[in-house]
Amino acid sequence: MANYTDWLKLYSNEDRKNHALRVAETAEKLAATHGADKDKVFIAGILHDIARDYSGKQLLESAEQFGIAVSDLERHCPVLLHGPVAAKIADARLHIEDKDVLQAIHQHTLAAPDMSLASKIVYLADAIEPGRQFNSIGELRELARYKLDSALLAAMDSGISYLLEKKEIIHPKTIEARNYYILNSS
Ligand SMILES: [Fe+2]
Ligand SMILES: [Fe+2]
Repeated sequence: MANYTDWLKLYSNEDRKNHALRVAETAEKLAATHGADKDKVFIAGILHDIARDYSGKQLLESAEQFGIAVSDLERHCPVLLHGPVAAKIADARLHIEDKDVLQAIHQHTLAAPDMSLASKIVYLADAIEPGRQFNSIGELRELARYKLDSALLAAMDSGISYLLEKKEIIHPKTIEARNYYILNSS
């Protein structure tokens, strides 16, 4: 944790840096509510978007360098790789060894079936941090406090609706994750 102000310097974009800090703080609060490790989600929140401002070319080069398998869809839309690339940077360059932290960074954009508590919290914190504004965000913030899986599903639905509206690509992993939580949420 001592390094986190240094890690923030990895963001060249001021807005992105402030977003990362707000995600970390939101994740820390959610961790306190849901009994997760506050430090882990804070660190993942700080680092989750360190590759978000990479160009498509940089993301594809980094993916190749780190041995990340790239699908045709991701080659067409490299921004989808910014989570996996950020996790590899955290591991290889920042020496973050904690698997929960790395996985939460990796999964923060696309989600995944059977996410860890830390991953769920970082995914949600990214969706509901105080800088985010969209219809029903108030309800989502409320839901995140007491029903984590329902909030996760609602956040996925809202993300998917946004992509549908924008006629953007929806990654199969996101669909797979949503189906999983529909089948498995209580
Ligand atoms: Fe992101
Ligand atoms: Fe983010």
